[in-house]
Amino acid sequence: EKGGFEHFMMKEIHEQPRAILDTLNSKLKDGKIDLSDVGLSNEDIKRISHIYIVACGSAYHTGVVTQYVMEDLARVPVRVELASEFRYRRPILDKDDLVIVVSQSGETADTLAGLRLAKEQGVKTLGIVNVVGSSIAREADNVFYTLAGPEISVATTKAYSAQLIAGYLLSIEFAKVREHITEKQYFEYIEELKSIPEKINRIIEDKERIQWFAAKQANAKDIFFVGRGIDYAVCLEGSLKLKEISYIHSEAYAAGELKHGTISLIEDNILVIGSLTQPDLFEKTVSNMVECKSRGASLMGLTTFGNYSIEDTADFVVYVPKTDPHFAASLAVVPLQLLGYYVSVARGLDVDKPRNLAKSVTVE
Ligand code: M6R
Repeated sequence: EKGGFEHFMMKEIHEQPRAILDTLNSKLKDGKIDLSDVGLSNEDIKRISHIYIVACGSAYHTGVVTQYVMEDLARVPVRVELASEFRYRRPILDKDDLVIVVSQSGETADTLAGLRLAKEQGVKTLGIVNVVGSSIAREADNVFYTLAGPEISVATTKAYSAQLIAGYLLSIEFAKVREHITEKQYFEYIEELKSIPEKINRIIEDKERIQWFAAKQANAKDIFFVGRGIDYAVCLEGSLKLKEISYIHSEAYAAGELKHGTISLIEDNILVIGSLTQPDLFEKTVSNMVECKSRGASLMGLTTFGNYSIEDTADFVVYVPKTDPHFAASLAVVPLQLLGYYVSVARGLDVDKPRNLAKSVTVE
């Protein structure tokens, strides 16, 4: 049942290219994005004034990525909300808002409550859901199914990756319908999405390098993840993956926030992982990493092939293939999933069933 892998998590990491391809293909007709099975018409898309993305855990993290991509491409204001907060804070919703709830299981109690709240207020809702027929899939006005297939490991990987694809497809389509991108850009973005599965395969092929590095972190006390923009969103997910299955304390910080408090935690030999896939922000994050290094941190850099100057600063570097920066989270997350996995294995822990956690959180 684990298809020759030692754990479901590793099997599911390897299934990501397939999950992405299936999700993509389900929405591509004649080379264009077709959301007709989701039920969003061009008029619906044009009318939206704000988007709220409501979710928990890793699903929330995909919402953070979608916020950056949607706002940049489609120029629609997006707010990402933790469902457990959203449901209790009397959000001010307008009839032209769209509430997107994201959930692998479709059963997360807080996310379901957020969906019901939006519906009570007469706002249009869209579920990005992996499990067919789940509560959220049944109750949302519109459903965008991710086609990741059943996910067993508590730590999500392939469902996360498929949720990112859903966010990209919505962003590109909204950008086209709202006339913020050219026809040429539209087709270029679609082409770029099609190349992601193959690029992920290339990252996975080199997994032993991350295994070697992870084994050396087995006794770490704290690990910090820093990045800006989409890289910050990747850091949130990398940090959750690590702490969830390795039980090592870890934090993700927007790199620019370090000097507002967190940098006081940096001590000799603490590992700081910088994610640097966004060309505009590369130098900014490098300088934050240099500041950590001068306080004794050891540094891992996660960046795109070609950014070799990172080797002047970082002690260990992982390169991912080039892609359009909007979609870089899909690649950068994979080494971080592998890192969490291998640290957990090196510590002899139950990778697929971490303590105190359930696959689906059906109570608040
Ligand atoms: O089923 P959902 O996508 O609604 O689950 C949300 C979170 O509970 C989930 O992503 C959780 O954070 C994962 N264990 C993270 O790996």
